[in-house]
Amino acid sequence: MSQVKATILEVKNLTKVFTVGSWIFRTKIVAVDDISFSLRNAEIFTLAGESGCGKTTTARMILGFEEPTSGDIVFEGVSIHEWKKKRKEFMKKVQAVFQNPFEGFNPLLSIDDIFFETVRNYALASTNDEARRLIDEKLKLVGLRFEDINGRYSSELSGGQLQRALIARALLSNPSLLIADEPVSMVDASLRMSIVNLFAQLRDQLGVSVIYITHDLATAYYVSDRIAIMFRGDIVEMGSVERVLTDPKHPYTRLLRESIPEPDPEKKWKEEITIADTEYEEYLRKGCKFAGRCPEVMSICREEKPPEIMVGDSMVRCHLYKK
Ligand SMILES: Nc1ncnc2c1ncn2[C@@H]1O[C@H](COP(=O)(O)OP(=O)(O)OP(=O)(O)O)[C@@H](O)[C@H]1O
Ligand SMILES: [Mg+2]
Repeated sequence: MSQVKATILEVKNLTKVFTVGSWIFRTKIVAVDDISFSLRNAEIFTLAGESGCGKTTTARMILGFEEPTSGDIVFEGVSIHEWKKKRKEFMKKVQAVFQNPFEGFNPLLSIDDIFFETVRNYALASTNDEARRLIDEKLKLVGLRFEDINGRYSSELSGGQLQRALIARALLSNPSLLIADEPVSMVDASLRMSIVNLFAQLRDQLGVSVIYITHDLATAYYVSDRIAIMFRGDIVEMGSVERVLTDPKHPYTRLLRESIPEPDPEKKWKEEITIADTEYEEYLRKGCKFAGRCPEVMSICREEKPPEIMVGDSMVRCHLYKK
């Protein structure tokens, strides 16, 4: 029986324009260009795409760290404009797990102190014992024990342990949404899958939703329910991870998939296909932003931005699929 899950997050026509350069040479970058997607309860949604495509900017707008240029974000039925007035409540419900676990904890404080501080900050317990039980419970969820962090500093833990501890800390306030931006790219390759797998476990055990941001389509395939492929601020393809990655429609998704380096997991495809940051014109290109690199480019692609086209249950922004 398939159950229809409630929507937890709606991103509607979200756009972010940055102005860069000096006053002599100013240019605009549409880092996020009118993207829309929604996320259901207990769902892992991946945002994937090469460096500079707008993944982190999207995450930062959802977290309220960056003001959208236009568009709206609705979390649990309430617009971020409203959530601004209840910032602390919002931060309890939406927690971030960032890329570098070594920067996640203040190196001058012991990790248990940092956990207790978080419990106090959000008023999650009324006694020390209660706080300790809460911390214990969250650490167990990520495969750690209180002894692993008690009196220890971030320099004394491995990258993998630290990332688990960061996830445990993010769970203290019982969030309904976790935003994990490249959470394993700085973790030893041999440990990545076990940490990514934690997100699936937390989804199943706690019903938490996750936005998983990654370059790595292999872990995305393994852990996510749905995926959106971003290119230069656009979502070019979106659907179930199974469909998008086993039968990609957009020529860019195909290129991405082919550039997953099978034999050498250490080598990231980022290095192979990233273009110079100076190629700003791609952001501003009329028509399809991928036209300059697309093996199947047609003349219309250079003129008209392709609309969102539904192919089966998934969306593709490509003129090839126009009816
Ligand atoms: N504060 C800022 N000011 C100006 N430009 C910015 C700013 N933040 C991001 N950008 C630009 O916006 C674009 C999107 O950046 P973003 O960090 O969102 O990409 P990303 O997909 O997360 O890339 P990566 O995979 O490298 O983390 C890039 O061209 C970036 O240079
Ligand atoms: Mg990023």
